[in-house]
Amino acid sequence: MSTKGWDNFWKDQRQSFYAVMKMATGYFVTQLEKKYQLQPTDQIFDYGCGPGFVADALAGKHIQITGADINEFFIQQCRSNHPGALFFLITTDVATNKKILEEQLQRRKFDYILVLSIVQYLPHEKDLEEIIRLLSRFLQPQGTMIIADVLDENTSSIKDAFSLFLHCIRKGRIGAFVGFISYLLFSDYRTISKQNKLLHVSEQAIRDMAKRQELSCEKVMGLTLQRSRSNYVLRHSSVKSSV
Ligand SMILES: C[S@@+](CC[C@H](N)C(=O)[O-])C[C@H]1O[C@@H](n2cnc3c(N)ncnc32)[C@H](O)[C@@H]1O
Repeated sequence: MSTKGWDNFWKDQRQSFYAVMKMATGYFVTQLEKKYQLQPTDQIFDYGCGPGFVADALAGKHIQITGADINEFFIQQCRSNHPGALFFLITTDVATNKKILEEQLQRRKFDYILVLSIVQYLPHEKDLEEIIRLLSRFLQPQGTMIIADVLDENTSSIKDAFSLFLHCIRKGRIGAFVGFISYLLFSDYRTISKQNKLLHVSEQAIRDMAKRQELSCEKVMGLTLQRSRSNYVLRHSSVKSSV
């Protein structure tokens, strides 16, 4: 496989660290439901949906989501697990994605747009700003965009590994943790992370991006398992938070 960047890494991914990713995503969905009391009528768009773990977790609550990802294998998996829902392939180029989203989503607007565990794999902050700009066009006037699991200057891999470890113990999934750590240490993930640092974005940078796009920005705690990462809720500026 290519070792050029995170985009190539993710396009080529199959099922390498599914166990831990599924657990972390499941945790996020539980927190999301608690905080926002999602309803089956809610329209949710998962940008960078991966193998569809958010969709899998919400299917039991009869909540169907729409998703997009750069990895064709993941999209095929989402389609086969959720045949009634719309999942489509996007690229790493936001201008191209604008056309794809307009074609696939038409004029749909979503109550929730999720960008979960994606930001660290983007090459530059400006890519995140372009993604936020693009996605805000598909957000309901009262809708909520969640940018979650963002690495910043307070992020510590040791603290993150520890919170993951505790969660795996609680769930009786210590094997998943060991598998994950071995994968990080001995796979192409390690090679790529040496060549491409994961993107860190500060709270101020996200607030500035939101402001430039007339979105409000609220930092929310506890949405993700890795406690030293940050989560943000963006809304159209005219909308007051009710949570
Ligand atoms: C850690 S996984 C998270 C998947 C899913 N959001 C979840 O939390 O279960 C990262 C995902 O980001 C996707 N991705 C990487 N770079 C991307 C980009 N530039 N635009 C959209 N998705 C991207 C990958 O294909 C992968 O599915």
